[in-house]
Amino acid sequence: MSIALITGASSGIGREFARQLKERGDIEEFWLIARRRERMEVLAEELGIRARIICADLCTEEGICAVRTALESERPQIRVLINAAGFGRFGAHDQISERDTVRMIDLNVKALVLITHMALPYMEKGGRIIEMGSGSCFTPLPNFNVYASSKAFVLHYTKALQYEIKKYGVRATAFCPGYVHTEFLDAAGTDKAVNRPKKTKPLLSVEKVVRGCLRASEKGRTMYVTNWYTKMQHVLFKLLPDRILTTLWMGMQIEADTEKVSENENKD
Ligand SMILES: NC(=O)c1ccc[n+]([C@@H]2O[C@H](COP(=O)([O-])OP(=O)(O)OC[C@H]3O[C@@H](n4cnc5c(N)ncnc54)[C@H](OP(=O)(O)O)[C@@H]3O)[C@@H](O)[C@H]2O)c1
Repeated sequence: MSIALITGASSGIGREFARQLKERGDIEEFWLIARRRERMEVLAEELGIRARIICADLCTEEGICAVRTALESERPQIRVLINAAGFGRFGAHDQISERDTVRMIDLNVKALVLITHMALPYMEKGGRIIEMGSGSCFTPLPNFNVYASSKAFVLHYTKALQYEIKKYGVRATAFCPGYVHTEFLDAAGTDKAVNRPKKTKPLLSVEKVVRGCLRASEKGRTMYVTNWYTKMQHVLFKLLPDRILTTLWMGMQIEADTEKVSENENKD
């Protein structure tokens, strides 16, 4: 039975991958992984084929263990692995809590690597892996530092992995979109209490970017960068020194509203 294992399946990009893979018709069972069970139940119902829901916080040992146990007991034949679970926080290092900082690394980096390694022995020949990078992965980004660095890791990791797994007939693609219309930005903290980008809109359509990524993955591309703006950034980031890029990025930032910050501090 050909399985698609998707983390971050309860929302946004992960959920859209499930929908479009279902449309393509070569998946017989979905493994949906995230924390919000009800959301995944609704998706499973909509997909209308066999679905296993694994409700897990992937920042925790228990969450990772739940996935490992399911894989070891079922020994599934995985056709597609999509590591879409992830989150980011805008703000300088001292505007983001230590807990959020660590969880960003745990989810965007550690969980992604562990799940990939756990799933690889079960991947069928011709299988495909999609790892969530971001358009922010190409250069150091102050006020989005840990998130952008976690995605830079994903890009390098995926490119190297592609070489290692070619011999098994499995291909890996790093997916690097610009800002997409999902719940991501709400969770990233675009409120006035943190340093943040002046402009995050217009947002890309989730349907469109996922469709493009599936096509790129079928062609065996190692990286998929979505729209012209993100592609142009990618090229500029290769040509210009970090010093200039950082200055340009900082010119697009709004400083935190300090009154709001102290209000928030008082609340804590
Ligand atoms: N939207 C953008 O602009 C954008 C741009 C570039 C890259 N990305 C990347 O795309 C991926 C998907 O994001 P999205 O845009 O679809 O955002 P989203 O709508 O907020 O979805 C994030 C997904 O990650 C899951 N998740 C979050 N914390 C988790 C945890 N501790 N354990 C397990 N699952 C967890 C969420 O499920 P639960 O809350 O139910 O656990 C949700 O399904 C992320 O890796 C993000 O970094 C997004």
